[in-house]
Amino acid sequence: TGKFTYDPGFTSTASCSSKITYIDGDEGVLLYRGYPIDQLAEKSHFLEVCYLLLYGELPTPAQCEDFEKTITYHTMVHEQIQFLFRGFRRDAHPMAVMVGVVGALSAFYHDSTDINDPEQRKIATHRLVAKVPTIAAMAFKYSIGQPFVYPRNDLGYTENFMRMCFAVPCEEYTPNPVLAKALDTIFILHADHEQNASTSTVRLAGSSGANPFACIAAGIACLWGPAHGGANEAALQMLEEIGSVDRIPEYIKRAKDKNDPFRLMGFGHRVYKNYDPRAKVMQKQCHAVLNELGIKNDPLLEVAVELERIALSDEYFVEKKLYPNIDFYSGITLRALGFPVTMFTALFALARTVGWIAQWKEMIEDPEQRIGRPRQLYTGPGERDYVPLGKR
Ligand code: CMC
Repeated sequence: TGKFTYDPGFTSTASCSSKITYIDGDEGVLLYRGYPIDQLAEKSHFLEVCYLLLYGELPTPAQCEDFEKTITYHTMVHEQIQFLFRGFRRDAHPMAVMVGVVGALSAFYHDSTDINDPEQRKIATHRLVAKVPTIAAMAFKYSIGQPFVYPRNDLGYTENFMRMCFAVPCEEYTPNPVLAKALDTIFILHADHEQNASTSTVRLAGSSGANPFACIAAGIACLWGPAHGGANEAALQMLEEIGSVDRIPEYIKRAKDKNDPFRLMGFGHRVYKNYDPRAKVMQKQCHAVLNELGIKNDPLLEVAVELERIALSDEYFVEKKLYPNIDFYSGITLRALGFPVTMFTALFALARTVGWIAQWKEMIEDPEQRIGRPRQLYTGPGERDYVPLGKR
């Protein structure tokens, strides 16, 4: 264009410099602050990863304990937030509720909205990491018509979340440690993924100096789309629609047909042109959860494994470097954990909140930070004179 580079979808434009997450899409590598995702998924826990993403280093035992206490301290939401929930239709999608309620936090915490004050930024960060699970669990409870469950501070982050989702009055609830570990791992795998659409949305919204809670709500809105966070919901629905192994070839054929908009959900990635490293960990956790629950032959898992096998040996998928992504197995796992499909993207949002806020913080603290302002390639009419209404 002369003046600007035309780059629809930003496939070759770096919008910022960042020290947080590294991806090598050709090699299938994902590092958080230099640490490989599979090591973190296996050896770490979610709050430790949150600290790493936010502050750049793994915490010492004392820092870890202190961080866990701080987050736990902030898990309750203002009692008035219940009224916000009650304003939604009872069948509202949890993501619709989350966009609204997380955005509304900006109206509750006036003391953590001066983004130029590092201490206030820190409090806003902690509030978000702590309160989004409470809001997600409330959205779930509201959608199934059960009473809200208050957070319990003696439980770990993920165990507390499971309890807020699955406990009912007058019944003891103890989270199963194998299932809690699987969910915690899912949170780690989703915690950050450099400049994806929702993270770029958070950065762009934040670049104007907007309120951090509102910026995260913008990220949640972007994540909701089926090409992004909605893909695990779409992948599970696809597996259910396929239903049995003998119907797979029909769907493979449709995915390859240029005139059919159908795509294999949970396949392909803008950056990974190799096996998504998160998908490998996810597949392992999927088996662990099904084993623990004694699900010997899940028909959907059978369809998934066979679909993956056929696609990976099909010329179309090989040539276009389309591999399973994280969403391919996460839907089956989350369903087995007891979550309805409508909660899948909400869980993704819960986990990604820390990545969004770490990226937002990095941007605010970057001396080169300026308001984001993409340019365009104008293709409309040239200058012309106004024609009065009666003469048109
Ligand atoms: N099934 C069939 N064909 C596909 C698929 C698929 N899942 N994905 C890409 N293709 C084809 C596409 O038709 C195109 O073909 P051609 O070059 O002949 O036009 C080629 O592969 C390149 O696709 P693209 O749409 O230009 O690639 P992209 O980088 O814009 O899209 C994607 C990446 C993830 C949106 C896409 O692969 C897709 O729609 N996948 C299914 C949805 C999905 O699983 N999304 C989750 C992404 S991972 C989670 C996250 O980060 O949020």
